[in-house]
Amino acid sequence: MSTTTSPVRGATAQSIGSLKIVPFLHPQGCRTYLIGDPDSGQSLALDVHLDLVKDVADRVRAEGWSLPYVVDTHTHADHPSGAGDLAPQFGSTRIAHKAAHHRGVARHPDDGDRLHLGDQVVTIRHAPGHTPDHLVLLTDGALFSGDTLFIGGVARTDFLGGDAGQLHDTIHALIADLPDETVVYPGHDYEGRTSTSLGNERANNPWLRLSDRSAFVKALTANPPPRPANMDDLLRLNREGVKIPDRIDAATVAERVRQGGATSVVDVRMGAEYESEHIPGSRLIPLDQIEQRLEEVMAVPAPRLLLCRTGNRAFMARDTLVRHNVAGLSVVEGGIEAYRRLGGDVKTGVQRMSLERQVRIGAGLLVILGALLAWLVHPLFIAFAAMIGAGLVFAGVTDRCGMALVLAKAPWNRARGEEAAGTAGGCAASLPAAGGCAASAPTAGGCAATHLPPPLDSDA
Ligand SMILES: [Fe+2]
Repeated sequence: MSTTTSPVRGATAQSIGSLKIVPFLHPQGCRTYLIGDPDSGQSLALDVHLDLVKDVADRVRAEGWSLPYVVDTHTHADHPSGAGDLAPQFGSTRIAHKAAHHRGVARHPDDGDRLHLGDQVVTIRHAPGHTPDHLVLLTDGALFSGDTLFIGGVARTDFLGGDAGQLHDTIHALIADLPDETVVYPGHDYEGRTSTSLGNERANNPWLRLSDRSAFVKALTANPPPRPANMDDLLRLNREGVKIPDRIDAATVAERVRQGGATSVVDVRMGAEYESEHIPGSRLIPLDQIEQRLEEVMAVPAPRLLLCRTGNRAFMARDTLVRHNVAGLSVVEGGIEAYRRLGGDVKTGVQRMSLERQVRIGAGLLVILGALLAWLVHPLFIAFAAMIGAGLVFAGVTDRCGMALVLAKAPWNRARGEEAAGTAGGCAASLPAAGGCAASAPTAGGCAATHLPPPLDSDA
């Protein structure tokens, strides 16, 4: 049985009244919550990211809870929901607003509907603005604000039928009667924070202090950021339950890259190969580093497209990532060779010898060495050459080559600057770019407004 480690941060339980709140911090900046009532052993999972299904399921089982409810606050446009995967494991009722039209959702609550976790009450409020189908949850002492109110920010409203004026009205109506001590758990945070208090937001959130509706609308609708990466794919997945395929053909990838989807391509070849030729905007995370850089892979917006020269290493990377509970992975069939052949855009640099050629030359030299030693030193050295032959047969049968893995670590196969930066050879490939969601800073393409309103007159 393989051991798995999770790059999910947080997951430390907090108590709000009688409820236990377990936040899960996804490297993409998304927040998933498990809300449990220890007395009754009943719990509710909120906005489960597809990558976090196992983390949440493990936690429910570890607590010895049941999971009667799995809720999506709205149709997520920036990440895949795991509700459809989690709910069947516990016989949970999936809940979303009726306007979401999510396949598999059994309950469409009205504003003010209540869910019960033992004696504890969770009130559902319709909270349109970011999207028309948005819900928030209220418990005694906590507001799970989804994509309405963030820590120091608010949601964007420029896609999926969002409405800035409606968001303004929603937020102010929602918090009007809530005390300052209310703990706010947002649907996203890009700076690693888990919660805030309503009092803190009232005092410091510039969007909340901007009470004038028309000024709020004018400021929020100015300079809309790019749409989230892969938004159409994610909407199909989140609405219709369409699964992300294990593999994707290179022609489709070429078209997707043309439409701006390169930020979801994870190139698992060696740095030197990447330097020779790569898809502009793709991220380099070599196969031999993938386990150490899980957070970077998870920060890539799904569906994540795994690329190597012909496909073999991408499948190995996929196996490794799946073992670590990373979901939403598609291997690019035929790798960059097929992608280039089909007209995909590539950027070329200094040409380096391919790993396959290095293996052939290295194996040949070792066989010659074994033969020479057998001839000149001792006949038993022929066994050395035989071992190399056996290794090549094993590599051919299993498609796993030990010599290739060793050679991949050689200094001449690294990209320039790769060791120092720990990232992609000078192309910033491992840093989230526009259209993604960074773990540490709000970026274009997430669900948060990426700018602040102008200062209030009284502050000027
Ligand atoms: Fe959202």
